[in-house]
Amino acid sequence: MSGLQTRAHRPAWRAVGGRRTAVVVRRADVDDVPTEHDWLTERERTVLRALRVPKRRTDWRLGRWAAKEAVVGAVGAAWLPRACIEILATTGGRPVARIHHPGAWPRVALSLSHAGDTGFAAALRGPAPLGCDVEQVTERSQEFVNDYFTADEAAWIRSVPGESALRANLLWSAKESALKALGEGLRMDPRCVPVVATGAGDGFALVPHGGSLSVGGPGRRFLGRWWCTGPLVWTVVSDRARELDGLAAGLPPRSAPS
Ligand SMILES: CC(C)(COP(=O)(O)OP(=O)(O)OC[C@H]1O[C@@H](n2cnc3c(N)ncnc32)[C@H](O)[C@@H]1OP(=O)(O)O)[C@@H](O)C(=O)NCCC(=O)NCCS
Repeated sequence: MSGLQTRAHRPAWRAVGGRRTAVVVRRADVDDVPTEHDWLTERERTVLRALRVPKRRTDWRLGRWAAKEAVVGAVGAAWLPRACIEILATTGGRPVARIHHPGAWPRVALSLSHAGDTGFAAALRGPAPLGCDVEQVTERSQEFVNDYFTADEAAWIRSVPGESALRANLLWSAKESALKALGEGLRMDPRCVPVVATGAGDGFALVPHGGSLSVGGPGRRFLGRWWCTGPLVWTVVSDRARELDGLAAGLPPRSAPS
């Protein structure tokens, strides 16, 4: 049989989004998230109703909104009603996206995070390890560094006076991203995923806003990107080098409603 497909039989996502794959990141501030709940599915609303702590509800909605924006970016279908995208957690906590709309939609790998009043999400077509995280840049205690970082990482954190808070939170965020990509979270020892971060100048002012990451070792190596925007540091990791290329520059775009 010929491999040609008529337009009518072409999967909807291919018709609208083509085959290009790239990691898509989106951030959301509280003001970006619609106040109503009509962008959530019935099952998502059930999850939300069960969350009793207001801050947790805000965080959950922030993460879900950023995640839905990342999913429509990854499948190239900004027109998709957000209530057609459902993001539920596995028993282990990993978020899984499903699209409930006619058409043969691709699987989408998804990760999300929240910090302060900010949500952050990354999405990529196809099954792929993917993790993202946003952290507030706060001072970390020596105990925290001793408990969760390798000796090399601790030395790197201390190596530039005035940058230790950024460095500690950057490495921590990259570890959380990797542990999310592995679907384990903090069930795993963060020292199992050592991080090497490079900045623009690398010699060693990291402060010019972002750079590259290498996380983990043999058998679980991820590459990634990081950015710093004032009080926040953001990371995203995957094992797909090419799919991360488009993230080399620029900050995560906001996911304001279009
Ligand atoms: C993953 C983890 C490190 C993130 O913690 P955090 O820094 O406080 O929170 P972040 O805002 O950066 O990320 C939270 C998101 O991580 C995601 N997440 C949680 N567990 C995850 C896992 N095992 N794999 C991948 N992603 C996970 C969720 O989407 C969560 O957001 P949501 O609950 O609003 O959907 C932490 O939640 C964890 O270790 N979870 C697994 C172990 C655990 O205690 N599970 C509780 C039972 S579900």
